[in-house]
Amino acid sequence: MTRTIIAANWKEHPVTMKDARRLFDATMRAAVASPQAEVLVCPPAIFLEELAARMPRGARNASLGAQDVFWEEEGAFTGSVGPRMLKAIGVRYVIIGHSERRRVFGETDAIVNKKVRAAYAGGLMPIVCVGEPPEVRRKGVAAARRHIAQQLARGLKDVFSRGSHESGARGIIVAYEPLWAIGSGKNDSPVDAAAMAAFITSSIKRPSAKVLYGGSVDSANVREYVQLKEIDGALVGGASLVAKEFAALIRRSLAK
Ligand code: 13P
Repeated sequence: MTRTIIAANWKEHPVTMKDARRLFDATMRAAVASPQAEVLVCPPAIFLEELAARMPRGARNASLGAQDVFWEEEGAFTGSVGPRMLKAIGVRYVIIGHSERRRVFGETDAIVNKKVRAAYAGGLMPIVCVGEPPEVRRKGVAAARRHIAQQLARGLKDVFSRGSHESGARGIIVAYEPLWAIGSGKNDSPVDAAAMAAFITSSIKRPSAKVLYGGSVDSANVREYVQLKEIDGALVGGASLVAKEFAALIRRSLAK
């Protein structure tokens, strides 16, 4: 059964462990109640270990993801967390190349590429984020596609090439998050997002690739995206921080 993926990107929220626990527990209850959804929660790194230990046994459809990873396993890299450290505490996924990492922290496609390889080598499934800024989108869909194609070509360079041991037979998750749709309340139209998802799938040429849409997804609009066959799920920011809203979002993603 292919499940709809509902991924929560908490970004730099909440501030306290207490609030993180509360939000996580409520999210896990919602996940257990909707076994047909694959629920991924990506909290700030500092909460990962404790939340991994709180994962309810019945939540077979729930996993933890990190929001970033460094490409070296260990060494003199102040401030960094490596893939094996994450894997060792029960993390299975990692978001790589989120537009906020690109914009605020200066991450390039070349850095994304290193991180994707390191994730595979460390046994983590990458969720690679791509998306065009508003000035590119204003030039039209063709320009947006060129932007995405370039991010994919550079970010996934040689990742799936023959003999590349890192990726093996594993799949990949790509999150299409147009920058103008993130945190703006201006979600992309489901039809346009599906067309871009199809473009991404055909560019990657991996049968097991999954494409998520992200950008102002909430409980009211999630179904419009995930009901389209080109879209395998959603990457959710703001709406994943409100326990009731996110529980509703998970439920609605499965509504007939
Ligand atoms: P919002 O859902 O808040 O628009 O954020 C989307 C996002 O960036 C998820 O990674």
